[in-house]
Amino acid sequence: MIIHNIELAASVLNEEGIIGLPTETVYGLAGNIFSEKAIKAIYQIKQRPLFNPLIVHIKSFEDLSTIAEEVPPIAIKLAKAFWPGPLTLLLKKKPLVADLVTSGKATVAVRIPDHPIALALLNRIDFPLAAPSANPFGMISPTKAKHVNEYFKDLMILDGGECINGIESTIIGFQGNEVIVYRLGSITLDEIEPIAGKVSLINKNDSAPEAPGMLSKHYAPRTPLVVAETIQELIQQFKNKKIGLLLFSNTFEGLPENAVQIILSPNKNLSEAASKLYDALHQLDKLNLDIIIAEKLPEEGLGMVMNDKLRRASVET
Ligand code: TXA
Ligand code: MG
Repeated sequence: MIIHNIELAASVLNEEGIIGLPTETVYGLAGNIFSEKAIKAIYQIKQRPLFNPLIVHIKSFEDLSTIAEEVPPIAIKLAKAFWPGPLTLLLKKKPLVADLVTSGKATVAVRIPDHPIALALLNRIDFPLAAPSANPFGMISPTKAKHVNEYFKDLMILDGGECINGIESTIIGFQGNEVIVYRLGSITLDEIEPIAGKVSLINKNDSAPEAPGMLSKHYAPRTPLVVAETIQELIQQFKNKKIGLLLFSNTFEGLPENAVQIILSPNKNLSEAASKLYDALHQLDKLNLDIIIAEKLPEEGLGMVMNDKLRRASVET
């Protein structure tokens, strides 16, 4: 059920229920971090393994001290620069934060979402919200209330419109003096490095993911997806198949008859493309195609982030 009533959403959360939460990145599956019942329900409906911890959403910088301690100065600097916004910090957790939320880790992932409805809701309740992306484990993240509704029929979803960023938050942790990016996301390395200095990128690791957003197979549509440097070759390769093309800015001329194409940004704007990426994947995934061919984006800024997400959604060819 999609609702617009913030009071109603707050009352469900107060009663240890869970809701679909709009944020500027993607929709979350949110519950009271202090309610074991709510947290268990999140893992259960998402079919998420218990070893994969949740992000905690707070309403203000002041609230950080309720869940985290020994916050390094560089983390404070980053928080001041990017909060509210799509930057998640991994910080030493206070004992009050249950192991269930952090999967037994000593750190808690935290951010302030930059979305008026999410903030209004957080201001009406007196606890932070744990919220992973509101998709079943391993599937495409939702950027519209209706995507969440398609995944979880019985869930109450607070409608906040289309997510403006459309890509998950960037996750950053700290080790000694080192600043480590664990997941590429809406805030790019070009934005982080002027503030944090040189960062290390640990964004790929199959065997023991620090942040399972790093699992190399992730965010996948049901339809097989390939990422193409040159579209033409792959169209040849799949010429007798039903093809969906996901293109950056230019339409593809000479499209085979049974093919469809979605253009992410006719103006070559990477932010616009990012905001539309997951919706385009949701749309293509509904068409019973044999293959989705995604054009590789320019390997810079958000283009690099989107290429990373597409690679994780792709199959080997
Ligand atoms: O933009 C976002 O971050 C969205 C919105 C709803 O805020 N949330 C989101 O959550 O993408 P989720 O659960 O889909 O991805 C969070 C990632 C997971 O890969 C998880 O493993 C990692 O953050 N994570 C959470 N807590 C962690 C911790 N203490 N240490 C390492 N990784 C952590
Ligand atoms: Mg996710």
